[in-house]
Amino acid sequence: MISLHPRIYKLFNEDCREVMLRFPPHSIDLILADPPYNISQYSSGNILRVGKSMLNNDIAEWDKVIIKPAEYLDVFKRLIKPTGNIIIFSGYNQIGECPICSYPERLKNPYHPTQKPLQLIEHFVKIASNPGSIVFDPFMGVGSTGVAAVKNGRRFIGCDINKAYVLASQERMESIINVAHKPLP
Ligand SMILES: C[S@@+](CC[C@H](N)C(=O)[O-])C[C@H]1O[C@@H](n2cnc3c(N)ncnc32)[C@H](O)[C@@H]1O
Repeated sequence: MISLHPRIYKLFNEDCREVMLRFPPHSIDLILADPPYNISQYSSGNILRVGKSMLNNDIAEWDKVIIKPAEYLDVFKRLIKPTGNIIIFSGYNQIGECPICSYPERLKNPYHPTQKPLQLIEHFVKIASNPGSIVFDPFMGVGSTGVAAVKNGRRFIGCDINKAYVLASQERMESIINVAHKPLP
C-alpha cells in the first residue's frame, strides 16, 4: 500500500482483483471504474482530433489483456454499500466520443494514453457520492478519480498494475492535499 495520508487515500500497485478480495463487504460508497477498453485489437491507426494532438489508437500493452466489465459486477456488488453507486466507463468505440484530457492538465511523464479530464470525473464524483464518502477506482491510471475525490472532500482507494502510474497518482494526491492544508492568512 502506498500513501502518506492513509486516512485520506490508499493506493495499491496490484491487480485490482487481488485487492478487492481483501476489502470488507459493503464498505465502498462509490465505485468509479475506467477499465481498459480493449480497442487496440480493432485499431485502424491514430485518430485526428481538431485542434488537439493525434489520438494514439494503439493505446497500450495493458489494453491487450481482455477485460469484460460484466465479470466484475459480482465483486463490485459485494463491495458497494446498499446506498452506494457504481459507474463503469466504456470505450469510445461504443459511445462515439473519447474524453481524454489535454495539456496542461495531461501528464507528460508518465504519459497515460487515456488520462481522463478532471472536470468530467469531478462531475461524477459530486453527483454520485457525498463529502466523506469512500470512492474506489480499481483501474485508476494516473489517479484522476483520486484527485477528483480528495479535492471534493471524499476519501479514495485506487489500484493500478503499473507502478509508474501509481507513483504519479500519489504525487497528484499529495499536491491536492498540500493545497487543502496550506496555512490560512
Ligand atoms: C483506461 S485506463 C484508466 C485511466 C484513468 N481513468 C486516468 O484518468 O488516468 C485503465 C488502467 O487500468 C490498469 N489496469 C489494467 N488491468 C488492471 C488490473 N487487473 N488491475 C489494476 N489495474 C489494471 C492499466 O494499467 C490502466 O492504467
